[in-house]
Amino acid sequence: MPDGFPVPDPELLEIADAGRSRSSLERLGAAIWTEALDWVYGEAMVRPIQRDSYPDSRRRFFGPSNEPAPAPEVGSPSDEVLAEFRDRVAPMTFNAQFPGAFSYFTPPPLAMSIGGEVLAQWLHQGVDVWHAGPIGAFVEEEVVGWLRDVVGSGAGSWGVLTSGGTMANLMALAIARDIHLARILGSDGPPRGAALEGVRVYASDQTHFSVERGLDILGFPGGTLQVIASDDRFRLRAAPVADAIAADRAAGLTPLAISAVAGSTNTGSVDQVVDLASLARSESLWLHVDAAYGGAARLSPRDAARVPGLELADSVTVDPHKWFFQAYDIGALVVQRRDDLRETFHRSPEYYASSRPEDQPLNWYEYSIEGTRRFRALKLWMSWKHLGTSGLAALVEYNDDLAAYLAARLRDAPDFELAVEPELSVVCFRHLPEGWDRWPAGRLDAYQNHLQRALELDGAAWVSVTTLRGRTCLRAGVVNYLSSTAEIDGLIDALRRLSEGVLEDLDRR
Ligand SMILES: Cc1ncc(COP(=O)(O)O)c(C=O)c1O
Repeated sequence: MPDGFPVPDPELLEIADAGRSRSSLERLGAAIWTEALDWVYGEAMVRPIQRDSYPDSRRRFFGPSNEPAPAPEVGSPSDEVLAEFRDRVAPMTFNAQFPGAFSYFTPPPLAMSIGGEVLAQWLHQGVDVWHAGPIGAFVEEEVVGWLRDVVGSGAGSWGVLTSGGTMANLMALAIARDIHLARILGSDGPPRGAALEGVRVYASDQTHFSVERGLDILGFPGGTLQVIASDDRFRLRAAPVADAIAADRAAGLTPLAISAVAGSTNTGSVDQVVDLASLARSESLWLHVDAAYGGAARLSPRDAARVPGLELADSVTVDPHKWFFQAYDIGALVVQRRDDLRETFHRSPEYYASSRPEDQPLNWYEYSIEGTRRFRALKLWMSWKHLGTSGLAALVEYNDDLAAYLAARLRDAPDFELAVEPELSVVCFRHLPEGWDRWPAGRLDAYQNHLQRALELDGAAWVSVTTLRGRTCLRAGVVNYLSSTAEIDGLIDALRRLSEGVLEDLDRR
C-alpha cells in the first residue's frame, strides 16, 4: 500500500505489515467487543426495545432534516466511529437478548455463533466457485449434512444455505416449476410463459407470505396459489386439499404442488404433513414443507414428533437464524434429490471453467439462486460443535416448556383467553378486562393493540400482535433461551398492571 493515503488510522488498512498494524487491530477488536458487551449490559438487558415511536425514532436518528445524511466525504478515526455507534445506534435497538423479549422469531444469537460470524468475515470465503472459498465449501457441505439429518432426508438428498426462509421457499418453488412441472407437462425444458397458466399450488391461510410472492416472482399468474382454510387449530388438513385438487382437475387445471408449513409464523401451527405427503404422492404433486421455524424441534428426540413427516417432503425450508439461535443471516433448503437442485440452478459461465475438471470440485453456485455467498456455515458449525445436538435440543425443549407454562397460566386465568393451544413455542392470547363482553365491536381488538404498545413503553416484556380469524391477539414467540418462568409471570403481571391506563386512554379517544 502506498504511503500517505489521506485516511484516519492508516495502520488499520496496512494489515500486510504486522509490525505496524497488529497491535492496532488487536486494540480495535477489543474495543469492538467491549462496545458490544456495553450494549448487552447497558441496553439489551435493560429493556426489550427502544421506546420511541417510528416518527420520533426517525427524527432522533436522522436529526432535524429527518432524512438520511449524505455519505461522509472525509473519514473519522475509529474511536470516533465507535463513539457514534454508542450514541446513535446502540440505544435504538430491538433487544433479542432481553429475557422478557418474546419476539417475532428473533431468538438471541449464541455467543459462539457471533464468534463464528466474526471469523467468517475475516476469512472472507466467497462460497461460490470452489476456488473462491475452498474451506467455505467443505464446512457448508458438512453443516448441510447435519441439517439433512435433522430433516431426516435420506441418501441422495442435498441442501444449500440461503439468506433465510424467504429465499429457501423461493428456490423450492423454482425447483417445483423447473423439475416437477416439466415432468407433469412432459416438456423438454423448464416451463415458462403460457406453460405456467392453469397451474395450481395448495397452501393454507397460515402460509408465510413468501410462498405467494415466490410464485409471483417465478412468473406464475395470479390465482396459482389456492389458499385452503386451515382447521380450528390453524393446521392444513389433507381432505380439503384433496377436494380442491379434484375440483381443479375436473376444471382442466394442473395441480403442481402442496406447500405445507411446519411451525407457522402466526401460531406455530403444524400442518398435517404426513397425510399431505400421502396425498401428494397419490396425486403426483410436489410437497414442499416450510419448517423455517419448526424444523428445529427435530433436534430434540423428545419434541421431534411435534413436527412429523419432514422426511417425506420433496423440499424443506429450515431457517437456522430462527430456532437454532444463529446470528443473522442463515437459512437453508433441503431437497430429497441433489440433481433437482443442480438442474434448476446450474449455469456455466466461461470464467468459472475449472482448470482441473477431473477434481470435480463442489461449486456451490451450481446449487443456488445466489452467486457469491458469505461463509454462513461457519457460525452454525462452530455453535453446533460447541453445544452439540443435545445442547441445541435442550434450548428448544426449554422454550417449548416455557410456552406450555405460559399457556397453562393463561388457561387458568379468568381475565385471559388462550387463542389456541400451542403446538410449539408460539402462544397467542387476549387480555379480557372486566366488562369486555359488553363492549362495542372492535373495541377488544383496539384494546389488544394499545396494550401491546403500553407494554413496549413500560419495558417489562415484549410481545407482538397478530390477527387470527379477524380477531386481534397478542403473540408471544417464546424463542428466547434467556427467559424463565419469572419473565412469563412478569409478562402477565405487566399486562394486568397496564390494563387500567390503556382503558382510560381508549376512553379519551
Ligand atoms: C414459517 C416461516 N417461513 C418463512 C419465513 C421467512 O423467513 P426469512 O424472514 O428468514 O426470510 C418466516 C419468517 O418469519 C416464517 O415464519
